[in-house]
Amino acid sequence: MATNPLVLVIAFILSVRLSQWMNVAAHNSPLFACDIDKDPSLKNFAFCDDSLDVKTRVDDLVKRLTLEEKTGNLVNKASSVERLGIPAYGWWSEALHGVSKTGPATYFSSLVPGATSFPQVILTAASFNETLFKTIGQVVSTEARAMYNVGLAGLTFWSPNVNIFRDPRWGRGQETPGEDPTLTSKYAVAYVQGLQERDDGDKNRLKVGACCKHYTAYDVDNWKGIDRYHFNALVTKQDMEDTFQPPFKSCVLDGNVASVMCSYNKVNGKPTCGDSDLLKGVIRGQWKLNGYVSSDCDSLDVMLKSQHWEKTPEEVAADALNAGVDLNCGDSLRFHTGGAIKAGLVKESVVDEAVSNNFETLMRLGFFDGNPSKQLYGNLGPKDVCTPANQELAREAARQGIVLLKNTAGSLPLVPTAIKCLAVIGPNANATETMIGNYAGVPCQYTTPLQGLSASAKTIYEPGCLNLKCNNIVRLHKAKEAAAAADAVVLVMGSDLSIEAESLDRIDITLPGRQNFLISEVASAARGPVILVIMSGGGMDIQFAKENPKITSILWVGYPGEAGGAALADIVFGRFNPSGRLPMTWYPQSFAEKVAMTNMNMRPDVTTGHPGYTYRFYKGETVYPFGYGLSYSPHVHHLVKAPTFMSIPVDEDDICRSSECKSIDVVEHACRNLIFDVKIRVMNVGKMEGSHTVFLFSSPPKIHNTPQKQLLDFQKILLASRQHKVVSFKVDVCNHLSVVDEDGNKKVALGEHVLHVGDLQHSLNLRI
Ligand SMILES: *[C@@H]1O[C@H](CO)[C@@H](O)[C@H](O)[C@H]1NC(C)=O
Ligand SMILES: *[C@@H]1O[C@H](CO)[C@@H](O)[C@H](O)[C@H]1NC(C)=O
Repeated sequence: MATNPLVLVIAFILSVRLSQWMNVAAHNSPLFACDIDKDPSLKNFAFCDDSLDVKTRVDDLVKRLTLEEKTGNLVNKASSVERLGIPAYGWWSEALHGVSKTGPATYFSSLVPGATSFPQVILTAASFNETLFKTIGQVVSTEARAMYNVGLAGLTFWSPNVNIFRDPRWGRGQETPGEDPTLTSKYAVAYVQGLQERDDGDKNRLKVGACCKHYTAYDVDNWKGIDRYHFNALVTKQDMEDTFQPPFKSCVLDGNVASVMCSYNKVNGKPTCGDSDLLKGVIRGQWKLNGYVSSDCDSLDVMLKSQHWEKTPEEVAADALNAGVDLNCGDSLRFHTGGAIKAGLVKESVVDEAVSNNFETLMRLGFFDGNPSKQLYGNLGPKDVCTPANQELAREAARQGIVLLKNTAGSLPLVPTAIKCLAVIGPNANATETMIGNYAGVPCQYTTPLQGLSASAKTIYEPGCLNLKCNNIVRLHKAKEAAAAADAVVLVMGSDLSIEAESLDRIDITLPGRQNFLISEVASAARGPVILVIMSGGGMDIQFAKENPKITSILWVGYPGEAGGAALADIVFGRFNPSGRLPMTWYPQSFAEKVAMTNMNMRPDVTTGHPGYTYRFYKGETVYPFGYGLSYSPHVHHLVKAPTFMSIPVDEDDICRSSECKSIDVVEHACRNLIFDVKIRVMNVGKMEGSHTVFLFSSPPKIHNTPQKQLLDFQKILLASRQHKVVSFKVDVCNHLSVVDEDGNKKVALGEHVLHVGDLQHSLNLRI
């Protein structure tokens, strides 16, 4: 049929118009203030002048605002101030391990359908690689900025979670870097720097704003009916100073984080968001936070309705503001600050300070600098999200974190050419969403364990359990047949968010339902090696599998992120040498039966029978200890250099000169610059190249109820087969060797400190 050329021309014009119109409609634009192109009169406002310093600009802005406009900017859904060209801003975005869909200010759309989903933090922490922590932060903030530029995200991200993973049952332990204050502090600093630091090195400006949460001593979500909204954490001064506070302190002082979020729980009787000692005193006073203090979401409502902390919402609003809360996730401060001022409970100057801290943060983010497309990061867009390089980093992170817990000689790695058929069995064998854990976004794509393994060998798949809870075993005979016929078996078991999650702590720390039975049955039927893969956030009592000789290898893969299956296959088939180490103790089930999760005491107590928590204090049996992890290549350590004694200089009139002292006070003594080197030669004595983490622990003299062992520092190095390298640690006596006494003061104990590196032990005597 002949086509009328006129119709074609009209159709052409229409389609061009349509696509232009669609481009405009689909290309959402970012929110920003001081849009001078749209309203040239805004140029006259000092707060829009980016050549002035931030403080001058903030002061100029705040003095122009009415009280209502101020209180509208004390909440996460902040109000616009249209007469000043300020749009409404959503403060709540999240980026725990990738841009997340949890915060209401972030959306995924056809423009950006997904973002790179890195492993859940507990697995990344297992890599013990600070470079990796920071690199992930950089990639996440690049994707976040790209999404901001098309109107899909804010600039303030309420991540990371730096609470100590005190108890294995905690449902949110997966979000944290584990049980150790040193590792958690280093993770916090590196990740926050990765998120916040700009490529132009301008320290006063931010790429995106991070937030260390949940301040403080927050690690009970919902255990046997005791929930976080009602829980009163009873914490000793000593545990506070040497366990719960250090990650927050490092995050503020060394990470220069833009925000700290106070938690839901009470600490020693007071809600943290109403505790002026904790907020004004410590965060702003001692640590000098450069940024804003946010409440957890609806914390103020929790203070009123669950904790009955005060009688009226005005009193709660005043308490929070007077304590140092600047931003309320929720609505309380919008509605009740005015009333609190009228009632004389809080001064307007306190509101001015709070709103200034919030606006100052937005100013450092460039929100008041006009059109972001003309600024650094203005050219980022959807093309910069889910790039092949970013997705490769997600796979690399999972590879670096995965921990090899058991490996009978010759079991792993599998030789792909020798595997004609691989049985892949278990409820997590073809996991998708389970791999990304909580506070996740929409991933770019998934590579499930089954897909990852199938790329290297022919597989047969049997889920084994009806679902993760595994109360029903399906087609057991089929799973056993597959195991009997295959050259090797990979069982992918473990946990998911129906077992451990926000608002869901565990009761038991064994594998769910009949998983143990399925594993043992399949193992007994198997002809070749049996590789048990545990996908979980918290540790599991898998003693039965550790002891079963038919189970030849065990891997822990955390929640390994979108590329988890590919990373698992890299390790199983020997393309990558495992180097992850457990960032938390794996306890036996008896621990969960004996210890009340609500007992916050880190230290054991003989009078109550409390065994204490974490490798620093717990002396009982473990399934696997903190720091445990094997490699395909053994590594050996030799001590090259470490002093056997050190003298701490003290003043002529120091009391410790005339009488016997057990310890000296860090604040009062000048041991600040007393630094020594510990040098260790490490050799890879295996056949494969691999990375190896060197842990430097110390056991201080036994005074002040000190930890039996504490991690001073760690370094990860890459070694080729037969290669060796010298790793050097700078140990600062006051910083690294100090302990905290019963009153929360830092002390350096005199006497014998034992340094441990792997199996090496070295004695160091500290004296006056
Ligand atoms: C495994 O999961 C993927 C992604 O959800 C799905 O496409 C595939 O069909 C599943 N494979 C089997 C064998 O169930
Ligand atoms: C640490 O991580 C970075 C980034 O992925 C990687 O390039 C480096 O090789 C890792 N270091 C070691 C020792 O494995």
